[in-house]
Order: sequence, then C-alpha cells, then structure tokens
Amino acid sequence: MSLIDTFGRKINYLRLSITDRCNLRCSYCMPSDGVAKQTHSDILRFEELYRIAKVATELGIEKIRITGGEPLVRKGVIDFLTRLSELPKLKELVLTTNGILLSEMAENLHAAGVKRLNVSLDTFDGEIFTRITRRGKLSEVLNGIQAARDIGLAVKINTVVMRGVNDGEILDFIAKTMEPSVSVRFIEYMPVIKEAGWQSLVMTGQEILEQICQTHQIETVDSGRRCGPAKMYRVKGAGGTFGLITPLSGHFCAQCNRIRISADGHASSCLFSDDRINLRPALSHEADSFLMDELRQMIGTKPAQHHLSTTHAPHVPFSMSNIGG
Ligand code: 5AD
Ligand code: SF4
Repeated sequence: MSLIDTFGRKINYLRLSITDRCNLRCSYCMPSDGVAKQTHSDILRFEELYRIAKVATELGIEKIRITGGEPLVRKGVIDFLTRLSELPKLKELVLTTNGILLSEMAENLHAAGVKRLNVSLDTFDGEIFTRITRRGKLSEVLNGIQAARDIGLAVKINTVVMRGVNDGEILDFIAKTMEPSVSVRFIEYMPVIKEAGWQSLVMTGQEILEQICQTHQIETVDSGRRCGPAKMYRVKGAGGTFGLITPLSGHFCAQCNRIRISADGHASSCLFSDDRINLRPALSHEADSFLMDELRQMIGTKPAQHHLSTTHAPHVPFSMSNIGG
C-alpha cells in the first residue's frame, strides 16, 4: 500500500518523537527559561507509539526516524527500538540524537537494529558548545560519535549554522569530510525561538557554499532518496560529503515525503502547519481502523508548501523539543 497526498507526493517517512525532554537546552530550540515539561501522562506509552508505528507501516511508511527532545533519555528506548526494527514492512529505522549518551548506548542501539544516526554537532569549541547547548560537554558528544562509528553505526553530523556563533567553523567541519564516510549537513537556522534580531543569525545555504568555495573546489553529489531534503556536495578528492538543508532560503516542500508525530500523540503533515490531529481518541479504540483513518485524513490535508523565509517568520506552531526537527 502507498500513501499519496493531494499534491501527488508519496508519503513514506515518519518522524516519531518519543519524548519532549532533553539533557541539553540549545539556544535555537528552547527559550532560556526552559519549556513547560509535559507530565508522563501527556506522553504516549511505548505500547501506543508502537501501535502508531505499526499502523503507519501498514499504510505505506517505510522509514521511521526516532526523535525527541532527546530520544535516548527516555527509559525503555532500546526495547522499543528492538520491537520497531522487527516490523515487517519497515525498511529503515534511524534516530536523531544530541550524542551525549551515545558512548554508553551505541552498542545497544546497534543491537536493537538501528543502522544510522544523525548526531547534532554545531561546534568543535568547548566554550561555544556550552554557549549553544547551555549544559553538557563537547567531549561527551565527540566520544559518542566515535563509539557509534566503532560499533558500525553510520553517523551523519547535523550542524545548525549561526552567523557570529559558529560560522567561523564551517571549514573545520569541511575538513572532517576529507575522511571517507563522514557526512556533514549544514542546516539554516530556523526562527523557532523568535528572539529579537534572529534575522542576523541566519546564514543562507548560498552564503555557506560561497564560503566553502573560496578555498575548495567542490562537486555536486547525486543525493538519491536517502538524503531527504539535503543538497549534497563533495570537496574534490574528498572521501566524505557535505550537504545543505535550506528550510528558509529554498524550501523543499515539493519533495516532502514526511509526516510527524509528537510524543503527546499529535500527528502533523507539515512542521509549519497548525493542523494537528490528536491520535488519542483513535488509540482508545481497539480496532486499528480508527488510527488508519486519522493518519489518512491528516495526509489528505498536507499543505503544498510553507511560507517561512530568511526575513519573515509567520506563526511557528512548534518547538523542536516537542516535535524533534
Ligand atoms: N533551526 C535549525 N535546526 C534546528 N534544530 C533544532 N532547532 C533548530 C532550529 N531552530 C535541529 C538540530 C537537530 C535537529 C533535531 O533539529 O540541530 O539536528
Ligand atoms: Fe538541543 Fe536537540 Fe535538545 Fe533541542 S532537543 S535542546 S536541539 S539537543
């Protein structure tokens, strides 16, 4: 079975947030005074999340990305992943993490059937790391990435570029891509936390590319299906690749193949849409048909595109810690 929306897009990718909690407080994700924690009863039980995932795969979802908050802080996550990876129609189970707990969990993640990780890493400078994340140690993330690679997990690095914060390190990230199998994706800063003057933090994909081209010869890489919205490149002769994810300057809505479900059970077809469907009523029925109907209906309302730009942020109805990027 496949899921096709009203604009002909094949929807086969589910981003499933399993917690809104996080062991970091990144400045672009959470306000400095924190976010209201959801109580445990607001968060779906693993059994409920599993049911949603199962039904979604029966409808045509082939890839699931587990997100948070920080998914690795939720107790029981390894058992949950093990069960998910056994879903017969699921082709890919991946996870986005801040890497803090990776050293201790990489081996279990691998054993649970996770093949690939996206790790958020915005800087190689310990002080800048603490300024961005407000807590946590850079060395924990770096050790975590190493542990994951050692056990055989493929790791992609996600880097949010912010002018005046970490734009001086773009070439340091590029240097890492000289090694084989390293992939870095630079992400345009999105005004989720609309702090005054956020526009000055935005560095467009084009500006990032221009900076790289001043010192490196680059070539485009056929990104294929697996790189999602990233435009992929390689420094000539490099073993690894880098990508640009440009939600502001060049939206990728026409290729969007994803839906999202938040940890409290709201399904949404677009990060920037207010139309969220609460799945709890459907979950209270024993028959899966109610859940199937809700998911189908939600995909039917997936908008053609969003209206965010580098200078203008209309209402942004989510926080990353809630919906997981
Ligand atoms: N702008 C861009 N990317 C963001 N992320 C979180 N908040 C933002 C934002 N405001 C990214 C993180 C992480 C993923 C979960 O989402 O870097 O890789
Ligand atoms: Fe940072 Fe991700 Fe945690 Fe948000 S959820 S505070 S981006 S680590």
